Amino acid sequence: MTEIVEKGLGRVVAQPSAHVFIRQKFFNRTIDITDADIAAEILRDNETFHLEKTFLTLFHGMFDTGIMGQEGAPWKSRRQMLHVPFRQKSIEDRFRPIMESESARIFNRLALGQSETVNVFSLTEEFTCAVIARGLIESPQIKMDIAGLVKDLQKRPNLSHFAQVILLQQGLPIPFVHRRPRSPDTLSRPSQDVMNFIRKARDEGYDKNDILSDLLKVKNPDGSALTESEIYDQITSLLLAGFFTTQTAIAFAIDEMTKEPAILERAVAEARSDGTQYPLIENVVKESLRLHPPVHGSFRNATKPVSFGALEIKPSDMLRVDIRGIQRNAAYFNEPDKFDPDRFNGPIPKNAYIPFGYGLRSCIGQRLAMQESVHFIVALLKNFDIETTQHFEGERKSIGFMVPRGELKIQVQPV
Ligand code: HEM
Repeated sequence: MTEIVEKGLGRVVAQPSAHVFIRQKFFNRTIDITDADIAAEILRDNETFHLEKTFLTLFHGMFDTGIMGQEGAPWKSRRQMLHVPFRQKSIEDRFRPIMESESARIFNRLALGQSETVNVFSLTEEFTCAVIARGLIESPQIKMDIAGLVKDLQKRPNLSHFAQVILLQQGLPIPFVHRRPRSPDTLSRPSQDVMNFIRKARDEGYDKNDILSDLLKVKNPDGSALTESEIYDQITSLLLAGFFTTQTAIAFAIDEMTKEPAILERAVAEARSDGTQYPLIENVVKESLRLHPPVHGSFRNATKPVSFGALEIKPSDMLRVDIRGIQRNAAYFNEPDKFDPDRFNGPIPKNAYIPFGYGLRSCIGQRLAMQESVHFIVALLKNFDIETTQHFEGERKSIGFMVPRGELKIQVQPV
C-alpha cells in the first residue's frame, strides 16, 4: 500500500481503493489520487473534467485570456495557436541557438571568476528566464523586467477573485464569474513596456524568429487578429509557466546528481565526450523530475457525477491527481524514493510517470524544458569541475508548485 506523502488539510475519511484517499475539508471533499490509471482517465477526458475552480479563478485573474486561465473552446483556440511555436522543429531552430548563447554567456562569466561558489537556483533562474524571454521576444530593443512582470501578474487577481477562491474552497456552489480584473492603464511599468512593445510591433509589421511574431500572425476562431492585450496574456502565461518550473527541475537534477559520486563521474565523462547524445544526463533529469516534479499535482473538477469502481466523484469534489505521489508509489517503482537514473533504461509502468501531466492539457513546453535542462547540465559539466558545498534541505510546496528548501551551492573550477 502506498503512503500518503502529503496529507494536507482535513482528515482522510474514506479510501475507496488502494491509491485513492478522500479527505473532508469544510463542506467539500478533496480526492487524492495516486492511482496511475484513474489519473490517466481523468486527465485524458477534458470534456468531463475541467481545471479545478479555485485554480482556474486564480489563473484567470493572473493571465486573463491567456491559455492557463481558460477552459473549453477559448482554451482550445489558445492551445492550437501554440502548436507551431512548441513543436520540435521550432525548438531546434529557435530555442537551441538561444540556449547555446545564454549558457556560453553565463559560464564565461563564471570562468572569469576562477574558483567560485555558486548558488545553483539563482544560476538556473538566470538561464531559464533568459531563454524563455528571448524565445518570446527576440528583439534586443526590449529587455523584459521579468521580476516586475511576475509581481504584476501576482497582483492582478482582485478582491473578487480572492473572495471567490475562498468561497469555492469551502465548497459553496457559487458560479464561476469571468471578470476582467484590470484595464491596460492600471498595468505597472514592466507590463506597460511589454504592452507598448507589442503595439509598436504590430503597427510596424514586426517579423522575427520569435513567438511574438507567431502570435501577431495567428487568428482567433472568428478570423480576427489577436488584440495586443490577448498577445500580452499569452506571452505572460508562457513566461511564468516556462521559467520557474524548469529552473526548479534543473536545480533538483544537479542536487541529486552531485549526491551520487559514481553517477556524477559518468555524467562528467558523457558531457566531455565527443557525442551529441546524452542518455545518462537525460535520465538524470527524468529521474529527478520523478522524485521532485515542480508541478506536484493536476487539479480538476468533474462537470457531472462520475464513478470509477468504488470511487464516486461529485462535481463539488476537488480532484488532486497527485503527480508526486504517483511517481513515488511503490506499486509502480521499485525503491520509489531512491534516485536511480538507470531505471529509465528499462520499461516504465504506463501512466505512472507524468511530470508534464497527461492528455490534451499536458505541458506544451515539455520538449523545451527537457532540452534546456540537459543542455544546461552538459554545458556546466563540460566547462567546470564541480564540488557541492551545500545541498537542498528538501522541498516546499507553494500553490500548485514545488520549490526547493534551503540552498544548493557548488564550487566551480574551470576545466
Ligand atoms: C520541467 C519543467 C516543466 C514542468 C515540470 C511542467 C509541468 C507542467 C504540467 C504538469 C502541466 C499540466 C498541468 C495540469 O494538468 O493541470 C503543465 C502545463 C503547461 N505548461 Fe508546463 N512544465 C514545465 C515547463 C514548461 C515550459 C518550458 C513551458 C513553456 C515555455 C510550459 C508551459 C506550459 C503551459 C502553457 C501549460 C498549460 C497547458 C494547457 O493548459 O493546455 N511549461 N506544465
